[in-house]
Formats: sequence, structure tokens, C-alpha cells
Amino acid sequence: MSSSFYLTTPIYYVNDVPHIGHAYTTIAADVLARYARLQNRDTFFLTGLDEHGQKVQQAAEKANIDPQQHCDRLTPQFQNLWKTLEISHDAFIRTTDSQHKSIVQRALQQLYDKGLIYRAEYAGWYCTFDERFWTEKDITDGLCPDCHRPVERLSESNYFFRMGQFQQQLIDHIHSHPHFIKPESRRNEVLGFLNKPLEDLSISRPCSRLAWGIALPFDPQYVTYVWFDALMNYVSALEYLSPAKARAPYWPANLHIVGKDILTTHAVYWSTMLFAMALPLPHTIFAHGWWTVQGEKMSKSRGNVVDPEAMVKEFGTDAFRYFLLREVPFGQDGDFSREALAGRYTSDLANGLGNLLSRTVTLIQRFADGYVPKPEPSTQTELDHELQTTAETLISTTLPDYLSPERLELHRALEAIWGLIQIANQYIDKTAPWVLAKQPDNRHRLNTVLYQSTETLRLLCAVLYPFLPSTAKNMKQQLGIPLDFSIPLQEHDVTWGRLTPGTQVTKGNPLFPRIDTASRQKGEKSVEHSQDPISHEPTLTPPGSQDKTSDPQQITINEFQKVQLKVAKVIEAERVPKSEKLLKLQVQVGEEIRQIVAGIGKRYEPETLLGKTIVVVANLKPAKLMGIESQGMVLAAGGQEVMGLLTISDDVPSGTMIK
Ligand code: MSP
Repeated sequence: MSSSFYLTTPIYYVNDVPHIGHAYTTIAADVLARYARLQNRDTFFLTGLDEHGQKVQQAAEKANIDPQQHCDRLTPQFQNLWKTLEISHDAFIRTTDSQHKSIVQRALQQLYDKGLIYRAEYAGWYCTFDERFWTEKDITDGLCPDCHRPVERLSESNYFFRMGQFQQQLIDHIHSHPHFIKPESRRNEVLGFLNKPLEDLSISRPCSRLAWGIALPFDPQYVTYVWFDALMNYVSALEYLSPAKARAPYWPANLHIVGKDILTTHAVYWSTMLFAMALPLPHTIFAHGWWTVQGEKMSKSRGNVVDPEAMVKEFGTDAFRYFLLREVPFGQDGDFSREALAGRYTSDLANGLGNLLSRTVTLIQRFADGYVPKPEPSTQTELDHELQTTAETLISTTLPDYLSPERLELHRALEAIWGLIQIANQYIDKTAPWVLAKQPDNRHRLNTVLYQSTETLRLLCAVLYPFLPSTAKNMKQQLGIPLDFSIPLQEHDVTWGRLTPGTQVTKGNPLFPRIDTASRQKGEKSVEHSQDPISHEPTLTPPGSQDKTSDPQQITINEFQKVQLKVAKVIEAERVPKSEKLLKLQVQVGEEIRQIVAGIGKRYEPETLLGKTIVVVANLKPAKLMGIESQGMVLAAGGQEVMGLLTISDDVPSGTMIK
């Protein structure tokens, strides 16, 4: 195995229900852990819970139970969510673990013995919510500058860590390690913070005020400040939860992923603690942005907290994982909306990836008896070259660059993968295997096209796995390829052209089944919409009419929305025997292939329709025309006489709804 890769999430406060913010960090870390394992790196991925502190003590008091019992009750909420989200952590730390507690005490004793912890009298403004003191200049109107709750004047004797003495060392480290704090803007923020003198850090709380914490080994009248205890998890876990049961070989960590709100505690408190303990600093601390909902901070009081379980129930784990990482550049803030998730589900997942797999498998079943044919290199064209080089560059350069801890451009990685998916879908459209299949002379070219499409999907499986693990497994099964995700990728897994001809494909369940993306709320919204196309249709509004609903010819927007219009691609067309007017079409509508009998035969020769992107009514009850079942209707201009077929000029995937 090659180099080690140690990566961590923050440990989450156990008193909060897990929400999209917790899910976000953990999913991002999971993608990187899965990717590193596939790259043969000795990976250790740690997550867990922060269980001490005032908030837990207060919550337990309120519930009238012991704090430990309170933590034990809430822990499964996180563990179950990680199962649902397919998080592949190697260890789950709880700061109430007895081993963690004694490692924290050992460290405190060592720092105390070195004279790096001292006792002093302290007076300041204390925020109970943030569990920290503020100085006079930080406070406005008696409110905490962070959470804006009232602060109280407290004076007490406490133990302090000589954080200030490491200020210059930290500044020098940040300057000499350009990848230590990422993204760049956050690095500058920390350097700005370090422009002011760095004060020593109070690292104790008197037991009289807070009993729920780790006792200071040199003064049991005090417990440890929750951040000192929590940050230590990154090294304590290695001593009892890693396979090596020692700090080596994983320390220093390659990557701590944290939210922007806890960057100072990591970049400043944690770094100076490590200096004091004579331990090397992590390679990179990456601070991601925050999710808001309709531009507002999520909070229980606003009632806008996004529940990951609910999103997964509606869209599936992989779609949720995909959305969080694709929608917003990692490092920036983003706004969450169910509609945006539904939109990406349909356009990127169902119509993009789902369609590519389903049409490829269908085409192989139709034109090659279900077995991947042998390609004929002499029939290759520029299109084949483009497909192959896009896939090769993605694997060899684009993904390793974007996924390196210094960059973590996860959204770009996905964008690049979807770039290949788009090229592959276009490749099928342009090469039109259904047309090639008509001519026996084109057999070799058809074989090449079917092979190349499947080969692209095979490589896509390997690159998609870290992001969408279940989808990649489903794809691999339908394609019949021998990829084993539990071991590092082998050279042939990621080398173009290693797909074995003769591999049998099997149609499985759609990767992303259609969902009804028009939510009730959305429906209501569009009724209220003043600019809907119907209300601007002149023929439907008799002059002088105020009350539009009184015109019997008019329909409401709800009635109109009952008609499902979809984009479709014509893949086969032939005349219905003994009919001048009727054509029998096979059209691709997303993942399905439908047969439609259309009365357009007087206007069009069947072969001129092949590959055309048309509009169909997708929810029409099937009917028989001249004994042939028609599963939908094609839209065309004209009355009795057809004047023109409705087509879409842009490259819109089949199955897309028309609204
Ligand atoms: N217990 C501390 C961390 C100790 S690490 C040694 C803590 N816990 S937390 O549960 O409050 O937050 C954990 C993480 O969730 C933080 O990284 C925070 O940024 C992240 N998020 C909380 N709400 C969030 C959003 N709305 N959006 C994105 N992430 C957010 O802090």
C-alpha cells in the first residue's frame, strides 16, 4: 500500500439533531476517503461526537437524566444517519470514551509539567451558549458578538494555556506552508486574526459551574474546557481506534475538514496546542461554507432545518450526496432548496447518467443480443477519439487535481465527470446506432459504437464510486463488469480499451427512477404566477372578459399541467402497412422506449425522422390504431393536414419535461 491518508470531520455536538450541515462535511470526507482507498492509500477516516460541555449538561438536566445517559440516547441518531448516507468512516470517536479521557488528562499533565499551563484570576464577559469569555471591547449592548445572546460578568480563577507564546511560530508556519489553511480567503482571515496579539486560552471551568467534563489531573476542582477536550480527539483516536493503535503512521493528519465557523479553533487553538505538545501540524485544514435555506440561517426557531433523512427518503442517498457536492463550490456558502435538488435529479441524474446507462444496455440488447460486441478499430472516427481522450484525461489528470486536499474542488470534479456523460450521450445521438443497424454494411461501425459507449460507462463506474457508491454498484451489475470496489483500482480498471468483448449486459432497475418533481407547493406557486403562458394566450381571452374562468374554452393552469409533454428522440420509424398516413415510431423518452403511431406519414418519409428530437404527450392512455398500440402522441402543427413536426433545436436530453 502507498502513503497513508488520515482525514477527519469535526466531532459533532451530541445535543443537536444531525442536519444537512453535519451531513455535508461528512459526505465530503466520505468521498475523499473512498477515493483515497481506490488509489491504494492506507486510509483512516475518523468522525465522531463531542459530548462534554455546558449544553449537554443543561439538556440532560432538562430531561432529568444523567448526561452520559443523555449522550448514549442521542448517539444513534448520528450513527444511523451515517449508515443511511453510506459513510465509510473507519472509526467513530466519542469524547466520553474512557481512553480519550485519559489521553486528554495525560496531555494536560504534560503541558502543566512543562509550565505551559498556569493558574490565574480572570474577569470577563461570559457567554454560556458559546461557553467562552469575551473581553470588554468585544461586547456591544451586553450581547455576545458571536451568537448575540446576553453575556454575564464573571470573575474566577482558572487555568490558562500559554497560547500567546506560539503566535509568531504559527504565523511563520502559515507563511511557509501555503496549503495549511484552505481556501486561500480563509487563510488570509486567520492571518488577519493573528495580526492582533494572541492571548492565552482559558482551558478550565470550575466544577461548581460545570461538572460535565474531563477533570484536570492536577486540580480535580476543575474540568477541561470543551474545545481542548474535543480537539484532542484527532490524536487520541489514533491511540485506541486506529488499526495501528499508535499515533504513527497516521499523524500528522492529511486533512481536517471543518466548517468556516470553527476555523479559528482549529487553525489557532489546535495548532498552538500541537506546538506545545511538540507534534507536527496537520497538512491541511479546509474550511467549507455554510448552507442557508432561502437565504436564512438554519435554526430550530425558524423551523427551516433541512432533515437529511427526509431528503434521502424522497430522492435517495446518492442524489442527495450528488446535490450537496455539485450545487455549490466546496468552500463557499450555498442556499439549499428542494426544487434545486429535484431539478438536478431530473436533468443530471435521470436524464444524464441514468439515460446513458439505460440506452446503452437497451441498444446492446437490441442490436447485439445482449453481449458487448468486439470493436473494429478501422471504423473509428474523430468522435471516438474525443470520447476516449475525455475519459482518459478525466482519470489521469482532472480528478486527481480537483480532489487533492489542497484544492478540494469537488463540484468541479463532478462537473468534469458529467462532461464525459454528456459527450457520451452526444456520441450515441451522433453515431445513431439505430440507423447503423439498418444496414448490414455498417455492422462493424455499430459494434464499435456499442463497445465505446459501454467502455465509457465502465470507466464512469470507477470514477463515480466515491461520490455515488450505490449507483456505481448498480451500474457495474447491469454492465456485467468485474470491478471490485473493496480493493484498490487495478490498472485495467482505469485503462481505456480493457472492457472484454462478449461481456453480457443485463437491464436492471433505472438508476434514477422518475419522480414527481412538481411538489404541491410548487403547483400552488405556479397557479399564482401572473405570467403563465396560458393567461397570455390571446385566443383564449375574449375581448372585455374580466373573469377568464367563465370562458368555457379556457382551461386552468392545473388542467394544463395534467398534460405531460416530454422531449423524445426518434430511434426507429417505419410505415404502417396499408396506411398512407400512419407511421410507427420507436421513441426514446428518458429511460423508456415507447411505440407511437403518428398520423404524419403524408408529410414525412420514415427515415427522415431518425434521430430527431421531438415533443410527445407522455401520459396519454395507450390506444390501438389499425391494431397497433400507440403509447403516446407526437405533436405537430396543422389540422387535418400536417404542416410540420414540433422539434427541439437544442441538445436537450430525451425525457425532459416541457412546461
Ligand atoms: N463540536 C464542535 C466541533 C469540534 S471539532 C474538534 C462543533 N460541533 S457542531 O455540531 O456545532 O458543528 C459541526 C460542524 O457542522 C461544523 O463544521 C459546522 O461548520 C457544521 N455546520 C453546522 N451548520 C452548518 C450549516 N448550516 N452548513 C454547513 N455546515 C454547518 O462545532
